[in-house]
Amino acid sequence: MDKDFKRTLVTTALPYANGPVHIGHLAGVYVPADIYVRYLRAKGEDVLFIGGSDEHGVPITIKAKAEGVTPQDIVDRYHNIIKESFAELGISFDIYSRTTSDVHRQTASDFFRKLYDKGEFVEKTSMQLYDEKAGQFLADRYVTGTCPHCGNERAYGDQCEACGTSLNATDLINPKSAITGNAPVLRETKHWYLPLDKWEPRLRQWILEEHKEWKPNVYGQCKSWLDMGLQPRAVSRDLDWGIPVPVEGADGKVLYVWFDAPIGYISNTKELLPDDWEKWWKDPQTRMLHFIGKDNIVFHCIVFPAMLMAEGSYNLPDNVPANEFLNLEDDKISTSRNWAVWLHEYLRELPGKQDVLRYVLTANAPETKDNNFTWKDFQQRNNSELVAILGNFVNRAMVLTHKYFGGMVPVRGELLEEDRQVMEEIHRSVAELSADMDRFHFRDALKSAMNIARIGNKYLADTEPWKLVKTDEARVQTILNVALQICANLAIAFEPFIPFMAADLRGQLRLGELPWSRLGDFDILADGAEIEKPHLLFEKIEDSVVEAQVKKLQDAKKQNELDAWKPAPVAETVDFPTFEKLDIRVGTVLECVKVPKADKLLQFKIDDGMGGRTIVSGIAKYYKPEDLVGKQVCFIANFAPRKLKGVESQGMILSAELPDGSLKVISPSAPCAPGSKVG
Ligand code: 2FM
Ligand code: ZN
Repeated sequence: MDKDFKRTLVTTALPYANGPVHIGHLAGVYVPADIYVRYLRAKGEDVLFIGGSDEHGVPITIKAKAEGVTPQDIVDRYHNIIKESFAELGISFDIYSRTTSDVHRQTASDFFRKLYDKGEFVEKTSMQLYDEKAGQFLADRYVTGTCPHCGNERAYGDQCEACGTSLNATDLINPKSAITGNAPVLRETKHWYLPLDKWEPRLRQWILEEHKEWKPNVYGQCKSWLDMGLQPRAVSRDLDWGIPVPVEGADGKVLYVWFDAPIGYISNTKELLPDDWEKWWKDPQTRMLHFIGKDNIVFHCIVFPAMLMAEGSYNLPDNVPANEFLNLEDDKISTSRNWAVWLHEYLRELPGKQDVLRYVLTANAPETKDNNFTWKDFQQRNNSELVAILGNFVNRAMVLTHKYFGGMVPVRGELLEEDRQVMEEIHRSVAELSADMDRFHFRDALKSAMNIARIGNKYLADTEPWKLVKTDEARVQTILNVALQICANLAIAFEPFIPFMAADLRGQLRLGELPWSRLGDFDILADGAEIEKPHLLFEKIEDSVVEAQVKKLQDAKKQNELDAWKPAPVAETVDFPTFEKLDIRVGTVLECVKVPKADKLLQFKIDDGMGGRTIVSGIAKYYKPEDLVGKQVCFIANFAPRKLKGVESQGMILSAELPDGSLKVISPSAPCAPGSKVG
C-alpha cells in the first residue's frame, strides 16, 4: 500500500434489492472485496468495508406491481435475504445498510441540494411519454413497443432484448404503457442534469493521466467514454418511488437511482460512524476503492466522481478494480431466465460449504476476461485441491504428530538442506502471494497460497517421516515441526480466501488470530505446544450432489422455455372447399413397431374400416410402440403415399406439438368406428 495513506475505505456495488444475489455478483464484486479487506485487516491496516442494498429504481416498482405489493415490501424481503446470505458466506462488511434508511434519504437529499444551491445543475425541459389514464410519466422500462431496428414487437423503452440495441422510449414504434396498455402521449417535463461535459477535462486528466495503473478493462472503458465526449445526464425522474427532489415545485419527481445509490456509500459510512465518518471521505490520507462489476464502470469512474467534483469536499476513488462477468455452465447468467446459482439457495442446499464456493469463485475469478463456473469444476476443485492437497497435508502432519508425539509440537533440531529448501520455496510463494494481493490479482494469489500446501505435501512425501520414525526420531521431530509450522502458515495465507477453514485450522492448532506479518515464519507454534486431535478440513463432494445442481439448472431452462412459449401464428386463411380437400379419418392402431435404423420413425398398421393401411410417423422419441396399440388416432387418409426408410406410408397421423417440442397423437374423445370422417 502506498505509504502516504493512513486508511482504506472499501465499497462494494450496492446490489438492487429486487432479487437475491447470485454467484456472478459474488465472483465479480463481493468475494474479491472481502478477500482484500481481510488481507488489509490481517496486515493491521485501518480499513472500513461498506456494503448495502440499492433499493430504488424502476425494476423494483415493476416487480411490486406484478406481485400486487408495495415497493417497500419488495426491498424489505430482498434486503434481508441478501444481508443474511452475505453474512453466512463470511463477507465481513463493517456495515450493510440500505438506501431506504433515514440517514441515506437525508444524505442524498442534502447532496442534491448542495449541488443545486451551487448552481451545478442545468434545468431542462423535454418531451417524455405520459400515460394519461394512469396519470403519470412513464419510465423507459414502463414502455413497450416495436423496435425500430429489428421489428421485435416486445422491445422495452430502454432496450430491445432481441437485438440488444439501447433505445429511448420515444424511439419505439407503436409505444404502449406497461401500466394500462394505453398508447402514451408526449408531454413536457422538467429535469435536472449534471453537466458531465463541464467535468470532462478534469476527468480526462484524473483518469487518463493520473491513473494509468488502473486495470486495462477499466481504463479502456473510461477512455472510450471520454473519447466519445460526455453529455449532461438527467439526475431526476418522474416516479413515485425514490428520494423526492428537494426543490420547490418538484412534486412527483425523485432522484435518479444512479444519483442516489453511490451516495449510499457515504450514508452507510455515516450511519456506522456518525461522529467520525468524514475522515473516511474527506481526509486525503484515506484511500478509497470501489469494487464493482464491469457494467458499473461508467457510474463509478465518471458519473460519481463528477458528482464528487461538483460537491467539492470529497476524495475521489484511488482505484476501481472492476471485474468482468462470470458465466454459468457456458451460458450467460440471467436473472430473468433463472440461469443462476443463487447464494441463499446454495447455502441451504450445500450447508457448511461456504469456503468451497469462495475458493472456486476465486480460482475462476473473471479478473481479466469473462470466466465460467461449472458444477463439474466445482466438484473437482474441492476434491482434488481442497481435499487432496490442503486438507490432506494438514491432516497428515497433525495425525503423525499425535501418533508419534502425543499431540505435542516436537522440538526442531538441526535443519538439513531439504528443510532449508522447503522454507525458501515457501518464502517465494509468500512473496508472490503478497505481491498479487496488492495488485488485486486474487486468482494468482490463491494459487500461491495453494502452492504452500503443495510444498508441504511434497515435503512429507519426500522425507517420509513414517519410515524414519524407528531409526531417527530426532529427524522426525524436525520434519513434523516444519510441517506443523507450514500448517500455521496456511492458516494465515488462506484466511482472506477461505476464512472458515482458517478459523477451523487455527482452532485445531490452538492458535489465536495471526497477523499477515507472521507469514513465512517457522516459529509460529512453540516447541511442546499441544494441538487438538485433527478432524478433516474438507470432505469430498459426491457426484450425486453436483448432478442434482446440474439437473436443477436444466429444469430451470426447461421451465423457462415453457414460460416463453407462444402458439405459432395462425396460417393463411383457407376456404371450405380447400379444407374439404383434406380427408381426415379415425383409425385404430392394430400394430406398432419401430422402423429399423430410424430413431424417429414408428410403423403403424391401422384399421381404417377400409381393409387397413400402413402409416409411418416420426413420433418414436415420444412413445413406446406397445403403448399405442389399441389406441384410436386421427390420420389424413388422402395424403399422397411416400416412402420412408423403405416403407410406404399411406397417410399421416395427426399429432400436436407441445411447448417442449414433444408430439402427442390426436385421439377422438370417445370411441369411433374406424374410418369415421373428421371434419
Ligand atoms: O448494478 C447494480 O446492481 C447497481 N444496483 C449497483 C449500484 S452501485 C452503487 F452505486 F451503489
Ligand atoms: Zn431490436
